[in-house]
Amino acid sequence: MATDQELPRTRWAAEAANSGYLSRFSERIDAGVDVDGEARLADVLVEREARILDAGAGMGRVAIALQRRGHDVLAAEPDENLVAESRRRWPELPVVVKDILQLDPTTEGSFDLIVVVGNVMILLAEDTEVRALTVLRRLLRPGGRILVGYHLSGGPIGSRAGYTWDLFSADARAAGLTAEHHFGGYNLEPVNDDYCVAVLTAG
Ligand SMILES: C[S@@+](CC[C@H](N)C(=O)[O-])C[C@H]1O[C@@H](n2cnc3c(N)ncnc32)[C@H](O)[C@@H]1O
Repeated sequence: MATDQELPRTRWAAEAANSGYLSRFSERIDAGVDVDGEARLADVLVEREARILDAGAGMGRVAIALQRRGHDVLAAEPDENLVAESRRRWPELPVVVKDILQLDPTTEGSFDLIVVVGNVMILLAEDTEVRALTVLRRLLRPGGRILVGYHLSGGPIGSRAGYTWDLFSADARAAGLTAEHHFGGYNLEPVNDDYCVAVLTAG
């Protein structure tokens, strides 16, 4: 597990935190716009009352939607501003202030499902994709799965460009994960060049 001193700077912290994510989602949520697409897909991947980790949870919008569907949810998010917003809006949602690289089954426990959505995979620190996926695999319960979603093109400012399906799935395999499903969006759109949704399992 990485200590604070050893943590490489994420693309999010370096640049993308200014991409307007928080204001954009805050406005949508305050206007009553549906932002639960990721959570709806996550919900069908598990039994009722599952234990779910939202890794890189941001303001907590996906995690709270899953908690409201009856799951036992833990949000992990290293950005203190986003954690503060999550706690202000949804104090009932448990949040740990941690980078993915700091997560550990002995402290966080293990999970039926881990969601890594909203471009987290292209906002990690450079060259940490396999490390991050390996940490997440170790947090899975037997039969557990990881739901990943990110932009293949047109991602946020400062995000990794060109993280193709082939590169991502090779990283997943290097981390001991196999892709069970690959879609083009959270409504199970066909595979396309814009967005990647994947369901991974250990093995
Ligand atoms: C665009 S936000 C999306 C947040 C949330 N998943 C959502 O969909 O609302 C990207 C998030 O990735 C997180 N992130 C990037 N690298 C990370 C890492 N190594 N560990 C944990 N979170 C990370 C950032 O802190 C930020 O909250």
